[in-house]
Amino acid sequence: MRYAHITGWGKYLPQRVMTNDDLARIVETSDAWIRERTGIVERHIAGESETTASMAIAAAMEALNVAGVSGGQLDLIVVATATPEHIFPSTACFVQDALGADRAGAFDLSAACAGFVYGLSVAADAIKAGSADTALVIGAETLSRIVNWDDRSTCVLFGDGAGAVVLQARDQPGGVLSTLLRADGSGSELLMLPAGGSKIPITPQVLEQRLNTIKMNGREVYRFASRVIERATREVMHKAGWTAEQVDLFVPHQANLRIIESAARSLNIPMERVFCNIQHYGNTSAASIPIALAEAAAAGRLRPNDRVVMVGFGGGLTWAAAAVQWSELGTPSRSRRVFSRIGYQWASLRSRARRVLRHVEDRLFGTADTAPQNGKREKDPVRPHAERPLETNSAAQPAQKTPER
Ligand code: UT7
Repeated sequence: MRYAHITGWGKYLPQRVMTNDDLARIVETSDAWIRERTGIVERHIAGESETTASMAIAAAMEALNVAGVSGGQLDLIVVATATPEHIFPSTACFVQDALGADRAGAFDLSAACAGFVYGLSVAADAIKAGSADTALVIGAETLSRIVNWDDRSTCVLFGDGAGAVVLQARDQPGGVLSTLLRADGSGSELLMLPAGGSKIPITPQVLEQRLNTIKMNGREVYRFASRVIERATREVMHKAGWTAEQVDLFVPHQANLRIIESAARSLNIPMERVFCNIQHYGNTSAASIPIALAEAAAAGRLRPNDRVVMVGFGGGLTWAAAAVQWSELGTPSRSRRVFSRIGYQWASLRSRARRVLRHVEDRLFGTADTAPQNGKREKDPVRPHAERPLETNSAAQPAQKTPER
């Protein structure tokens, strides 16, 4: 029998931090209100050069490094996001290109804040069914670009970032043991980005009405979340044959500390066994659970054979839970890190070569003229990630599209 083990994890947070006090200078709010109602103290905001794909790629590289896996070994890449680079192509294709994952299928998954657990379930099933041996699941978001910075009821809640895990097939029992996916489209209007899809294309009127930003009925979503967390957690634990007392770490979606605390209370899980980092990052939607996993692992809060339950919930409405037995890890060598870096540079070169080849082909046999004007390369807003230098946290620049402190 095949099992899908989590063998690598990584995260990426933009360098720029926006505190509650910073927000209080933009909208009518206060540090006290935000802390008390949500538990959030600060959040990270993407710099101008950072995007969902660039953050996903950085988190993925870290996860691959922990797993000791190269991009070329991947069979499947799933990027869960509500803030993709474009409607198409998928953000996952940019990740595939930057990692040199030439054997991998790649697609985006739209299940809002439940997206990472949905992705984990899909990838684990692909491994268990034998259609993939190694998969990468990423949750990545640049929510600051779709937030209405004049709406205090939503802009204080969200942050940017990415987290990733590597899943690998192994014979020994463990890894993703049970999952649960659910949806209730009757609540679709409770949390949505109304415009920018095929129903409401962007027009000047749409922009004026700010329909290109997040709309949320906070109270209703709060009620929905409080209801489903407990139910989904109990069901996924039951499927795995676990009781709440046996769970070593509960990793809920980080939307609101009050929701997390009340779920922990009703499940009878003490807060020492609940992972919370909402105070530093706010709600990073699909990225929140993989960021939490990477932090928990780095902090030594996840040991081999630990029983972990994660639960996500959000727009759709969607919710999902997973019961995972944490896996024994190999130790990644220093030389692997160096090899990986060379591998990514090679992938970048190969990507450029393919583009040049397509351009030459187009010149020889095609009709379209894709040559840059005056022979000079313009500053290209859709420049591929494989052609950008690898970004590090220290290279992050302040965002121009978000309010300055
Ligand atoms: O990740 C997807 C899932 N998302 C969630 O799970 C979010 C769920 N919802 C929530 O976390 C909470 O509903 C919020 C944090 C969004 C709001 O907290 P709340 O305790 O439900 O507040 P509320 O919406 O009931 O508003 C209470 C008051 C209102 O004033 P009035 O009408 O009582 O005079 C708001 O206008 O607080 C006011 N308010 C604020 N005041 C200061 C709303 N936002 C703010 C703010 N600063 N930022």
